[in-house]
Amino acid sequence: MKPQNDKARYMSEKKQDTMQKIVSFSKRRGFIFPACEIYGGFANAYSYGPYGAELKKNIKDAWWSMFVKERADMVGIDGPILLHPKLWQASGHTDGFNDAMVDCKKCKKRFRADHLVEELTGQDLEGQLDEMTKILQSGEYKCPECGGKDFTEARNLNMMFKTEMNGINEPVYLRPETAGAIFVDFKNVTDSMRVKVPFGIAQIGKAFRNEIVARNFIFRIREFEQMEIEYFIDPEMKWEPLFNEWLDKQEEFLISIGVDKENLRRYEHPKDKLSHYSQKTVDLEYKFSFGWGEITGLAHRSDFDLTQHSKFSNQKLEYFDAVNNRRYVPHVLEPTFGLDRSVLVAMTAAYTEEEDRVVMKFPKNIAPIKVAVFPLLKNKPDLVAKAKEILGELSKKFTCEFDDNGNIGKRYRRQDEIGTPYCVTVDFDGLEEGSVTVRDRDTMEQSRVKMDELDKFFEENLR
Ligand code: GAP
Repeated sequence: MKPQNDKARYMSEKKQDTMQKIVSFSKRRGFIFPACEIYGGFANAYSYGPYGAELKKNIKDAWWSMFVKERADMVGIDGPILLHPKLWQASGHTDGFNDAMVDCKKCKKRFRADHLVEELTGQDLEGQLDEMTKILQSGEYKCPECGGKDFTEARNLNMMFKTEMNGINEPVYLRPETAGAIFVDFKNVTDSMRVKVPFGIAQIGKAFRNEIVARNFIFRIREFEQMEIEYFIDPEMKWEPLFNEWLDKQEEFLISIGVDKENLRRYEHPKDKLSHYSQKTVDLEYKFSFGWGEITGLAHRSDFDLTQHSKFSNQKLEYFDAVNNRRYVPHVLEPTFGLDRSVLVAMTAAYTEEEDRVVMKFPKNIAPIKVAVFPLLKNKPDLVAKAKEILGELSKKFTCEFDDNGNIGKRYRRQDEIGTPYCVTVDFDGLEEGSVTVRDRDTMEQSRVKMDELDKFFEENLR
């Protein structure tokens, strides 16, 4: 097939919905690729390309900075993915971390039973296997894939990935959430650090869930990253105001990575749908082109986890309040964020089509490339050498990129597309007088900056 030129591609992409655009843009511009594409892809998995990896790392750093570095009441850990199997019995995951599935007998397509029933009837029957089976086997409803009317029973599937470990005589699981690794380190943290309730332990890391259907690009995948906090509080405190503060903080973080507030909403889980450990859960959802989707969750987990781990490990997991001479099991507020979903929402919010350009309007701190450096002409060694010298200096502090391909207008467009806030061009006048032009992504204005003041300029404008 003949490759499309920029304009033709831009026009054809313009007709797609935002998620389709983000998917094709991500692959074309090195943000996110379908995994193992040379083998035909694998299980709806994705890998982050060079710009995507930078973006993801910047979002992680922004999160860590806001919730760990800048707070005196938080510490961070980095626990293992493979954890003691008893941990998952204690947390209820071995028996209860299930989703209901159903297969179409005709086309063999597998569905999440509750999602299918909701799509076919509008009823939310999550957790009610018999009811779902009755509906799906009534002969009234068609498989959305092939039109067949022959479904298996709805049955539960545990979502944890099982593996084996040398020297361990029982199945070991890849952690389905990072939270477990935090709870089992509660004692180590309180013994080794001078933390005082209320305090939190944060962690960023991989989690694995054998989702029945992975879908909506990186929104629902089987291997993903979470950014989680377990915030330990006095069980006797009035927790509602703190719960609301955490919700505001979660929203503030999403806004800081560029999310538009008008496309966010709070969803409180109805009492009868709460997870087994939760007294109250509120999600922040974003309005994607496929519908509302959860980005963060905030749950009051009471003392469920520490009490369960205490029971299963025969260890006391308590906190001693020396001021009031009280010993107690703290309660926990859990603000949790999906990292991949944060990347997706940051990309969706940043994606902007203007008259003659696509521009990723990322907040500067999360933009994958901060400064692009160009020589005005690629065949002038003096310009190229100076541009490379500037690149070398700036790269010590900022993530930079060199480009000498095509005319300046095209280079600007390429950088706009990946969201680079500034482009620096070395030209003949500047070479003589020791200055460069700096072009701003959002205003598209150019200004002259002295070469020896570039560092200061970016220190001030990129923070
Ligand atoms: N420790 C609590 C917990 O794991 P959760 O709501 O099941 O709560 C937390 O997951 C966050 O992880 C979600 O808000 C979502 O952003 C992200 N997440 C969950 N399942 C995911 C999946 N299959 N793919 C991508 N992100 C996922």
